[in-house]
Amino acid sequence: MATLFTGIKQLLTFAGDAAPRAGAAMRETGLVKNAAVLVENGVIEAAGPRAAVHRHRLAKKAKVVETGGVCLPGFVDSHTHMVFAEPRLKDFSMRTAGATYQEIKAAGGGIISSIGAVRKQPQRAMAAQLAGRAARFLQCGTTTAEVKSGYGLSLDSELKILRAVREAAKLTPLEMLPTLLAAHGVPPEFAGEPQKYLDHIVSEILPKAAAEKLAVFADIFCEKGYFTPEQTAAYLKKAREFGFVPKVHSEQLSNYGGTRAGAAAGAISADHADHVYAEDIAAMREAGTIATLLPASNFYLALAKYPPAREIIAEGVPVALATDFNPGTCPCWNMQFVAAVACTHCGMTPEEALCAATVNGAWALGIGDRCGSVAPGMKADLAFFAADDYRELCYYFGSSQASMTVKAGRVAWKA
Ligand code: NIG
Ligand code: FE
Repeated sequence: MATLFTGIKQLLTFAGDAAPRAGAAMRETGLVKNAAVLVENGVIEAAGPRAAVHRHRLAKKAKVVETGGVCLPGFVDSHTHMVFAEPRLKDFSMRTAGATYQEIKAAGGGIISSIGAVRKQPQRAMAAQLAGRAARFLQCGTTTAEVKSGYGLSLDSELKILRAVREAAKLTPLEMLPTLLAAHGVPPEFAGEPQKYLDHIVSEILPKAAAEKLAVFADIFCEKGYFTPEQTAAYLKKAREFGFVPKVHSEQLSNYGGTRAGAAAGAISADHADHVYAEDIAAMREAGTIATLLPASNFYLALAKYPPAREIIAEGVPVALATDFNPGTCPCWNMQFVAAVACTHCGMTPEEALCAATVNGAWALGIGDRCGSVAPGMKADLAFFAADDYRELCYYFGSSQASMTVKAGRVAWKA
């Protein structure tokens, strides 16, 4: 049976070409006032002015849901590290006492300190914990999220994480796209030998993950003390040969060359981009690589420097926004907060921020042709908010304004 979501004060459709939005197109929200969305079999049949949608042949017999408020495409969070066993509260205390990312790492904290508990955790418990976290994302209006491995850093634990993501998908309506991030750091077994570890990933982990089809993407952390731009380019090339779509963590802590290495390897997105210069931005534009900005992590780390969103948008590179939800640098699952920070700290407009959090997030995951916008034929992934004006989503901050989340036409969560 069809469902008619109606009485929507403002609907942002972000409908348009089947391509990521760049430049001025990032401000084209497709705003419809007094709108309705008609859904059947998990797909959008019609969306637009209330009167027109109500005239659709399926509308007469549809179940009617009066929603009020603002409706957007469900948020597409294209960068999360959602699988970790324990929060890193010791790191947090060190940080509040003034320690930097690098100082925390040197003291035995950071990424490597997450691997002990992850390696011990049974897959089933991991999946249940992940499904619990997924519920928090749904409650904030997110309908699709990328989920990375990267806190196991051994063959068994990295495969376990990705299998847990698959298992959790049966426990939650949140759609999760898995990424192999075995190259997140160098584990103790390979201490001081990053190349040896990468060789191990290529010979042992990539083939097995590929054979079981456990991940869509392969990612690598390109940064001083982690992996070099040369290693990044070579690794992503190999990952691509195994059928993974490359993406990269780059220019987070310094300008190191990861963005250019990622772009050269055909990365779908280069993520963080805090320290990109003109040549990095040009490389993204030429390669068709999306810049995924994660400003909630800058906020959490109290960094003075934020990604230069205005420059990136001016140069015609599509920008996506994501949470970077992780236990170290960004324990935040709320895309509304990310959008608010993007406006207040990166100079993005609310229109650009919401575009980056929906349709461009979908393109950063290669699925913009079926989700991230509200138009006939698209997946019926919708986020509703208790607001009169869409700009309120970026204006109020610190708590969620979500009132209902619809995934593939079904109510996945309601306040
Ligand atoms: O995106 N940069 C690498 N990875 C994460 C940090 C993960 C952690 O500290 O656990 C990030 O910020
Ligand atoms: Fe990250």
